[in-house]
Amino acid sequence: MRGRRVRRLRSPGLASWVLCVGLIASSPLLGQVDLGTDEQRATGKVVYDKYCSQCHGDTGAGDGYAAPYLRPKPRDFTSGKYKIRSTPNGMLPTDDDIRRVIEVGIPYTAMPGFPELSPAEVTGLVYYLKTFSSDFEDPEAYLPALTTPPAPPFSADNVENAKRVYEEIGCARCHGTSGRGDGSSAPTLVDDWGDPIRAADLSRPWTFRGGASREDIYRSISTGLNGTPMAGFEEGLSPEERWQIVDFIQSLAGDSMSDPGYASLVTARAVEGGIDLERGAELFEGAEPALLPVLGQIVQPGRSFHPGVVAVEIQAVYDREDVAFRVSWHDIQANRNGTNGPDLVVEEMSAEAGSEDEGSFWGDEEAAEDEGGFWGDEAEDESDDAGGDFWGDDAAGEDDGGGFWDDTEESADGGSDGDLAEFSDAIALQFPRSLPAGIRQPYFLNGDSQNPVELWFVDLGYPEAPEVWEGRGSQALVPSDEDAPFVAASYEDGRWSVLFKRSRRNGQGIAFDEGTFVPLALSVWDGFNDERGSKRGVTAWYPVYVPPMESPSPFPKMAKTAAIVLLVELLIIAWVRRRHRPSAAEEAPA
Ligand code: HEC
Ligand code: HEC
Repeated sequence: MRGRRVRRLRSPGLASWVLCVGLIASSPLLGQVDLGTDEQRATGKVVYDKYCSQCHGDTGAGDGYAAPYLRPKPRDFTSGKYKIRSTPNGMLPTDDDIRRVIEVGIPYTAMPGFPELSPAEVTGLVYYLKTFSSDFEDPEAYLPALTTPPAPPFSADNVENAKRVYEEIGCARCHGTSGRGDGSSAPTLVDDWGDPIRAADLSRPWTFRGGASREDIYRSISTGLNGTPMAGFEEGLSPEERWQIVDFIQSLAGDSMSDPGYASLVTARAVEGGIDLERGAELFEGAEPALLPVLGQIVQPGRSFHPGVVAVEIQAVYDREDVAFRVSWHDIQANRNGTNGPDLVVEEMSAEAGSEDEGSFWGDEEAAEDEGGFWGDEAEDESDDAGGDFWGDDAAGEDDGGGFWDDTEESADGGSDGDLAEFSDAIALQFPRSLPAGIRQPYFLNGDSQNPVELWFVDLGYPEAPEVWEGRGSQALVPSDEDAPFVAASYEDGRWSVLFKRSRRNGQGIAFDEGTFVPLALSVWDGFNDERGSKRGVTAWYPVYVPPMESPSPFPKMAKTAAIVLLVELLIIAWVRRRHRPSAAEEAPA
C-alpha cells in the first residue's frame, strides 16, 4: 500500500499567496517533470550502489544493512519525503535541494557529505533517487521553491517579541521554553516512520539538519522538515516574525551558530572563601566553561550508536583544600525513577548474532586497551574498510523487532508527563588513579590493567549517594569503599547541572596538585534513551589544568583587619550611645 503520501496544497490561501507575493523561483516550474536521461540514471545507479546502498538499501527503502544502527534512520526514498527543501511543506524537493544534501551531508546524523563526487555523478544520483518514488512523475507534486530573502543583521531588540511569538504559536511545546528540545510534547514525538525523533535543540544550531546560517534557519522554519513533526510556518508566521525567531535562536546560541567551539582544555579557577556546593552555579562564576563533544560508545559490547547527549559543559574551581567540578548538559527529560550503574550488563543483539561474531567483528577489546589509543586501532581499521564489513552482516541487527531498539521505543511512547524510563540519567567523571608518567593515558573506557582509573559516579535517581568505582578495564570495574565526592544535582529548563566536590588529595585517588594537568574523561547516560552500563555517551580524555595559586595577597587580610576594627568601633559607639540614651520614662510625653 504505497499510495502517494506527499501532501497536496491544503488551502487556496497558499496558492494565491505564492502568486501574489511573487515567490516563484525559476526551477522547477509548476508541473514540470524532469527525470533525466537513461544514461544519467545509469551513472547514478553505479554511484548509488557503491556509496549509498549500504545505508539507504538497494531499493532505496532506507533499509541498508547499516540502517538498524542509525538514528535518524537513512531516508526511505520510496516515500518521496525529504526534510531539507526550499519548497513548501509537504512538497517534493527541487533537484538543487537534493544536490546540496549529497554534497554537504546532514550534520549530526550518519549522512556524510560527498564533495568528491563529480557534478555529473551528483546529477546522476539526483535522477536515480527520483526513480525510487513515483511521486516524482506527478506534475502536481511539484511547487516552486520559496525564496529566502537576504538575512537582516541580528537585532537583540527582536528577541523579546520573538520569544512571545515562539511561545504563542507552540514552538515551545516541542522545543522547550529555553529551546533545549525539552518541550512537554518532546518525549512523545515520532517521525512518519514511527521512530522516535527529538525536537532540535535550538540553542545548538550547529546540529541543525538543514544548516545553521540565518538563511538556512529561516528556510527550515518556513518549509518545515517533511516526514517529521516539524511543520512549515510560511503561512503561520510573517517573514518579519520568522526573522525575529531567527534572532531569538541566535540569542540562545550565543557565538556558536555553526561552530560549537569545543574546548581542548579545562582550566580550573582558584577561588577564595571556601567551596560550598550550596552556592550552585554561582560558585563557578568566572571559571571558563569548556564544551566537550560526547560520542556514542561503540568500541565495546553494549554499544550506543545514537547517544542522547551531544555535548557536556564542564567548569572547575579549587582552593587550598578542595577541587570542584560543575558538569551540565541538555536533556529532554530528567529521568529519576529508574536506576543506573556503570557496570550494568547490556544484552547484545540476539542469540544468532553470536557473541563470537561480535568479538571478531568489532575487534578484540584487549588489543584495543593495549594500544592505548582513543578508540583503539581496530575501530579505525574498520572504518577504513568502508565498502566491506564495517557494519557486519549481523542479521539480528536488521531485524527491527529484534529487541535492540525496542526499549527505547517503548519509553518514547510512554507519555510526556511521566518519567517511565527504566534507567535513570547518570554521569561519571573519570580520572586516572595516578598521574600518567608519560603521554600514555589509560584506556579511555574504564581504564586497563596497567593503568587503573577512578569513576566518580552519580545515579541521578539517587544523587545523595554518589559512588567511587575503580576500573582496570571493563571486565574489572568495581565499587571502591573510599569516600565519595560530595554531589549536588539539579535539573531545570532542559538542563542537568551536577556539582562534584572532593579534597584535592585524599590519599588513595588522583591528586589535583597545582601546576599539573589531570586527565579527565566523562561518561553520561541518558535514561530516556535506555542507556546503562557501557551503553553510554563518552568523551575523549581532556586535561584539567590546575594553575598554581598566587601567594595570598596581603591586601584582603588588611581589609579584613580594617573591617574588624571598624566593627568594634561601631559597637563601642552604639554601647556608649545606649548608655546615654534617655530612659523610656524620661522620653514619654508628660
Ligand atoms: C552511513 C550511512 C549513509 C550513507 C552511506 C548515505 N546516507 Fe544518505 N542519509 C543517511 C541518513 C541517516 C539520512 C537521514 C538523516 C536525517 O533524517 O536527518 C540520510 C538522508 C539522505 C537524504 C535525504 C535528505 C532529506 O532532505 O531528507 C538524501 C537525499 C541522501 N541521504 C542521499 C544519499 C546519497 C545520494 C548517498 C550516496 C552518495 C547517501 N545518502 C549515503 C545515511 C547515509
Ligand atoms: C510538533 C513539534 C514541533 C513544533 C510545534 C515545532 N517544531 Fe521545530 N522541530 C521539531 C522536530 C521534531 C525537529 C527535528 C527534525 C529532525 O531532526 O529531523 C524540529 C526542528 C527544528 C529546527 C531545526 C531545523 C533543522 O534544520 O534541523 C528549527 C530551527 C525549528 N525546529 C524551529 C521551530 C520553530 C521556530 C517552531 C515554531 C514556529 C517549531 N520549530 C515548532 C518539532 C517541532
